[in-house]
Amino acid sequence: MTYTPDSARYDSMTYRRAGRSGLKLPAISLGLWHNFGDTRGLSTQREIVRRAFDLGVTHFDLANNYGPPPGSAESNFGRLLSSDLAPYRDELVISTKAGYTMWDGPYGDWGSRKYLVSSLDQSLTRLGLDYVDIFYHHRPDPETPLFETASALDAIVRSGKALYVGISNYKSEQAAEIARILRELGTPLLIHQPSYSILNRWIEHDHLLDTLEEAGAGCIAFSPLQQGLLTDRYLTGIPDGSRIRTSVFLNESALDNKTMERLHALNDIAKRRGQSLAQLALSWALRDPRMTSLIIGASSVGQLENNIAALNGPELTAEELDDIDGTVIEL
Ligand SMILES: NC(=O)c1ccc[n+]([C@@H]2O[C@H](COP(=O)([O-])OP(=O)(O)OC[C@H]3O[C@@H](n4cnc5c(N)ncnc54)[C@H](OP(=O)(O)O)[C@@H]3O)[C@@H](O)[C@H]2O)c1
Repeated sequence: MTYTPDSARYDSMTYRRAGRSGLKLPAISLGLWHNFGDTRGLSTQREIVRRAFDLGVTHFDLANNYGPPPGSAESNFGRLLSSDLAPYRDELVISTKAGYTMWDGPYGDWGSRKYLVSSLDQSLTRLGLDYVDIFYHHRPDPETPLFETASALDAIVRSGKALYVGISNYKSEQAAEIARILRELGTPLLIHQPSYSILNRWIEHDHLLDTLEEAGAGCIAFSPLQQGLLTDRYLTGIPDGSRIRTSVFLNESALDNKTMERLHALNDIAKRRGQSLAQLALSWALRDPRMTSLIIGASSVGQLENNIAALNGPELTAEELDDIDGTVIEL
């Protein structure tokens, strides 16, 4: 059936500016790492993507290797773009990345100019696009000079194949350095994509938000729900079809007694606020205005809706923040 987006789609979503750039992103973005490969039906993928756009989610995050198999999330999203979203291309911010293993041999991984340029060309073919909005270097490469990676990103923007560039999984020090090089080259760093959640706070110890603020770059956190742990998904067992049952990236050992105790305590705090645990986790990760957006995953429309409703939740009080810290640090 032909898709007509909800005309009210911009009425309730919050948009935050990425650093000191001109680009705003929805406070919650949708990631296609899981649930959009060939092992999932295209009709559910379509429902989730349509509902996201209807709710004002303008930003969809991909990478060359998302699937399974690698590349299939881009191909499937390309199908949905062409069948549903093509007329709205100028309302969308589509990102992709290269940095992890994508093809055999010395040119299908890490951060060389050779890899980044050819990988983006392949991504564009799979997506059926002329350009992506944001192209990321997916992880730092300990061997390729930072200048080569940065100048490849700069050249990609100049070629018109990406509008902005980002980095992911870089520590503060490396982020500051590549931001400096990119600024000198004339292509400012738009955004950094680190992992971050109530249970994963490395960016706080690394002062990453301060570094990015200084560089004028935004921050978009991935896995703010700790791949589903910070939701009601595993509070009473492990459901069939859950990520623990279907993915190699999360396994049962993540649900040790200590973690379960923490999750239940956090769930109690969420309940007292009238929120789901997922909503509490998202409100928490968005509490610093320098956090431009959070990239969530969703295997159903219901999960997506529950997550986006977090944006209507009450502000976290100082006491609740202390309680959350106490839960994670003391328990
Ligand atoms: N740059 C990087 O290196 C990197 C790495 C990882 C991810 N990312 C990006 O970040 C995106 C999000 O990562 P993620 O999928 O790990 O994020 P996440 O939001 O932490 O986890 C998503 C999973 O949590 C469960 N879930 C979500 N909402 C729920 C709800 N309301 N109630 C119950 N369960 C819920 C679902 O699990 P079930 O499938 O079990 O239903 C869903 O697949 C990725 O798609 C990707 O774009 C980037």
